[in-house]
Parts: sequence; structure tokens; C-alpha cells
Amino acid sequence: RFILNFVTDDRWKYITDGLKVTLEVTFLAVLIGILLGLFVAIVRSTYDKTHKLKILNFICNIYITVIRGTPVVVQLLIIYFVVFASMDVSKVFVAVMAFGMNSGAYVAEIFRSGIMSIDQGQFEAGRSLGFNYAQTMVHIIMPQAFKNVLPALGNEFIVLLKETSVAGYIALQDLTKGGDIIRSRTYDAFMPLIAVALIYLVMVMIFTKLVALLERRLRNSDH
Ligand code: ARG
Repeated sequence: RFILNFVTDDRWKYITDGLKVTLEVTFLAVLIGILLGLFVAIVRSTYDKTHKLKILNFICNIYITVIRGTPVVVQLLIIYFVVFASMDVSKVFVAVMAFGMNSGAYVAEIFRSGIMSIDQGQFEAGRSLGFNYAQTMVHIIMPQAFKNVLPALGNEFIVLLKETSVAGYIALQDLTKGGDIIRSRTYDAFMPLIAVALIYLVMVMIFTKLVALLERRLRNSDH
């Protein structure tokens, strides 16, 4: 009967609309996270290797410490109720900012470990080819580092996709909230929540497959 109701009335809209919001927030947050993470990782690695960018490095360290040291839900609430309290911005925007900034700190460490995974000899090879520091980074280190961190980046995407399920804390109607609204209105908890779980599972499985394909492509290009 639930299935019948589900297709005949429009409660499935909570699921589809929620799914759209979840995907939108996740993709935009991943984008911000990668850009932010890349920037922070480069600043920190550059400081490690050359002792330049001291002040920027200091700021980046504070950023990573604060973001990783506090729960993402608290960050989301602070951004919503404190930072943007007096501004008229959409909840999707707030969520993208919160999750993007949160992810950036983790991605920064992923990229930094990727850069550190490259043998020092690769830097020296670049420099002896006449590349300057930036050129060595862009043309020699980064392409190899990226390949090494791909599994960790895929992992971060999965974490982020599922982490957006706490967006309901600011009453953003994402996939999880959509399922929960159906639960609260129909008094049926099983079907909507299991449906929500299955949708996350399928999304993660599809994404995992895509990353595996990309990994194989990059590995083949090694030979
Ligand atoms: N749930 C953890 C928290 O509240 C993890 C946050 C997100 N993790 C991530 N790798 N982006 O802080």
C-alpha cells in the first residue's frame, strides 16, 4: 500500500527534490573543497620545502586545526546562525560553504600527503631540467601526486556525500530530510528511510565504479 501511495500521491517529490539538493550541495562543496584543499596543500608544502610563505602557512595551519577540531554540524550551525545570520542567503549556499570549507581541510592533507609521496629526486630532476619551483610542481610533481591521492579523494567524496545528510540541522530539505518528512507525515518509518539509505548506497556504488575506471585509465597511461 505504501508503494501504491508513493506513486499515486506526490510524496515521492520529497525524495526527488531532496536528492537534487543533496547532489547540488555535494558537487559544489567538493569543488570548493578541492580548490581550497589544493591551495592550502601547496602553501604548506612550499613552506616545508622552501620556508617561504610563512604567514600564509600559519593561517592555513589555523584553518586546518579549527576545521578538523570541531564537528561539521557545529560549523554548519555557526555559518548559518552566526556568519550569515543577518544576510539573506539561501540554505543551499550556506550548506555549500560549510561543507566546502570543511572538506577543504581534509583535502589539503590528502594533497599534501600526495606531494610528500613523490620522491625528492623528482624535484631535483625538475630543477636540473631548468624548471623553477612552480614549473616543477605543475609539470612533474602534481600529475604524479594526483594519481597517488585518487583513492583518498574518492573516499573524501563519499564522506562528503553522506555528510550532507546533516543539512537538516538548518532545515535544508536534502535527501535525508525528505525521507524524514515523509516519515513524520505518514507514521511509516521503514519505507522512506530504507529508500533514502538505498539511494545513498546506489550513488556511492556508481561513484566508486567511476573512480575505479579513472584509476585504471591513469595506471595504464603509466606504461
Ligand atoms: N563527521 C565528521 C565531523 O563532524 C567528519 C566531517 C567531514 N569529513 C570529511 N572528510 N570531509 O567532523
